[in-house]
Amino acid sequence: MSEVIIVDDEAEASKIVSDLLVKSIIKNPELVLGLATGSTPLGVYKLVAESIKEKHVDVSGVRGFALDEYVGLSKMHQESYHFVINSNVTEPIGLTPENVHVPDGDESTIEQAGAEYEKLIKASGGVDIQILGIGTDGHIGFNEPGSSLSSRTRIKTLTEQTRLDNARFFNDVDEVPRHCITQGIGTILEAKHLVLMAFKSTKSKAVADALEGPISAFCPASALQLHPHTTVFIDHAAAALLKNTDYYKWVYKNKPDWQGW
Ligand code: F6R
Repeated sequence: MSEVIIVDDEAEASKIVSDLLVKSIIKNPELVLGLATGSTPLGVYKLVAESIKEKHVDVSGVRGFALDEYVGLSKMHQESYHFVINSNVTEPIGLTPENVHVPDGDESTIEQAGAEYEKLIKASGGVDIQILGIGTDGHIGFNEPGSSLSSRTRIKTLTEQTRLDNARFFNDVDEVPRHCITQGIGTILEAKHLVLMAFKSTKSKAVADALEGPISAFCPASALQLHPHTTVFIDHAAAALLKNTDYYKWVYKNKPDWQGW
């Protein structure tokens, strides 16, 4: 069972998660971070960057692996996840660019790109803390409904819903690529600690299906129920369709300091 924390707002969750990341980096200067893109983790990345500067933390040895990338967008395209990770994570936090990896969405090498990415993650020793968002259809990474729960990094076709959801980042929905390369659900589940965040009512159905529904490929995030160490941060709107909220609140209220994250 995931630890479910219902927060007042996104700012509260971002503060807790950024503190967790900074403390973890101080404890392990070679920490391997799993990085989600999208809107949800942006507050976390901003706070981590501020805290790292303020505390003069050495991040030169920290490694990072993004979850996914669009296929066919140039790495220089402002919405490519290479660009997004560089401008929201690598540069502001001051990570060493060679230590930060994003799956390669170049069409000419796409057939090998998944296996190569898996090798890189393995060679790093595996992801220590994986930051996750969730799609309105329950996807994690870009593992759309129907994805195998043991899948590895590979090419996927985005659903129309995900393309519509992500159209806000582009001039027009037609510019949103139809294909992506994403860590598989099996890959994500190998990270040592999964931290999922979800805010606003648009995520409430996906959150309820993921946390309290059956484990099913039709809600890829439900695979988190299989992981021994998952922490979920949601606001009241995203928690609206959950049944067990009284218990989640009770557990959080009684969380002992020694338990940590
Ligand atoms: C992106 C990713 C996706 C997003 C999800 C939510 O790397 O893995 O699963 O986390 O689409 O996106 P936002 O945060 O924009 O609502």
